[in-house]
Amino acid sequence: MKHFYTSFLAALLLCNIAFAQGATLNIIAAKENISIRGLSVVSDKIIWCSGSKGSIARSIDGGKTFRWTTVAGYEQNDFRDIEAFDENKAVIMAIGAPSYILSTKDGGKSWQKVFEDSTDGMFLDAMAFDKKGNGIVIGDPINGMIYQAFTNDFGATWTKNNNAAKATKGESFFASSGTNIVATANKKQPYLLVSGGMVSRLFYNSSVLPLAMQKGHETTGANSVAYLKNKAVVVGGDFSKPNNSDSNCILVDLKRNAKCSKPIKAPLGYKSCVIFYNKNTLIACGTSGVDISNDVGLQWQNISKESFHVVQKAKKGKAIFLAGAKGRIATLVLD
Ligand SMILES: *[C@@H]1O[C@H](CO)[C@@H](O)[C@H](O)[C@H]1NC(C)=O
Ligand SMILES: *[C@@H]1O[C@H](CO)[C@@H](O)[C@H](O)[C@H]1NC(C)=O
Ligand SMILES: *[C@@H]1O[C@H](CO)[C@@H](O)[C@H](O)[C@H]1NC(C)=O
Ligand SMILES: *[C@@H]1O[C@H](CO)[C@@H](O)[C@H](O)[C@H]1NC(C)=O
Repeated sequence: MKHFYTSFLAALLLCNIAFAQGATLNIIAAKENISIRGLSVVSDKIIWCSGSKGSIARSIDGGKTFRWTTVAGYEQNDFRDIEAFDENKAVIMAIGAPSYILSTKDGGKSWQKVFEDSTDGMFLDAMAFDKKGNGIVIGDPINGMIYQAFTNDFGATWTKNNNAAKATKGESFFASSGTNIVATANKKQPYLLVSGGMVSRLFYNSSVLPLAMQKGHETTGANSVAYLKNKAVVVGGDFSKPNNSDSNCILVDLKRNAKCSKPIKAPLGYKSCVIFYNKNTLIACGTSGVDISNDVGLQWQNISKESFHVVQKAKKGKAIFLAGAKGRIATLVLD
């Protein structure tokens, strides 16, 4: 009996350990008073972050050490998105008044201005790139038209699109994680874009699809979209109500006439970012914590209450990193 009891206890302990090993989150860096919303993971070793007060963090050793820098001359700018191409080359996007995109070729030692727009009301939200260096930057609508510029040389030069789609009244975009636009590698619909505010919509293949997300306020709507093989997963909610889980996730099957459905078990609270880890597993995060789904978004499990703005998987590799307020950077390991 005693033996049975100890092995029963041991089995219970093993279960706990097994569960903990299912998803292990470790905070590996922090910096007071810096908010990180830009994250680009080139490989398991090369990680770039961008944030408020002109801040950049870069690691080339898998996150063991980060080099923090402030972009000279841009100490007051909020770099809400970054795309890194390797350990030396990256572009960063400063949201507004004026809006800038800067590029580095020397690992962030020096930055060159490659885009500037000081139009009244300018507010850039996010960039997205495909593997060939084609990219897009989007910004809040100006005079009813979505702000959009394209690059085909890894962000070295940008051309404004004067025929971008129209926004409806009170519709705008969130610059919460640089992921409300995603490159699909599908020529017919190279980018998917999600909006929020008074309405929440998905722009795809020159169509616009209303999303049954929270809407009606400046703080509500879709914040992020992940895409894989004709499936789009959209997350958001209301960033002023981090604990509210109402209409915070929509699953869209683009192959089947953009059929929308809601999860059976939604992620917990407001979410600012979602990514595919593999074809079944998704990771979402927000100020409300981190959630995982292993069934393409149908059922979500909250795995941590820690607040993060953005999550990314290595473009070439398996490592997962998260970043957020207080300059916090974390790794997430799934078995
Ligand atoms: C962070 O902000 C607080 C309050 O403004 C200030 O006292 C503190 O020195 C700042 N910390 C750093 C590292 O700048
Ligand atoms: C995009 O729209 C065109 C024309 O409406 C259609 O022929 C095409 O199949 C669509 N592509 C995708 C990937 O949905
Ligand atoms: C959200 O819930 C947590 C506890 O689950 C609580 O500590 C926090 O204050 C709540 N936040 C808001 C904005 O209600
Ligand atoms: C998940 O959320 C529930 C309900 O708020 C809470 O009781 C639980 O502690 C959370 N789990 C984790 C791992 O944060």
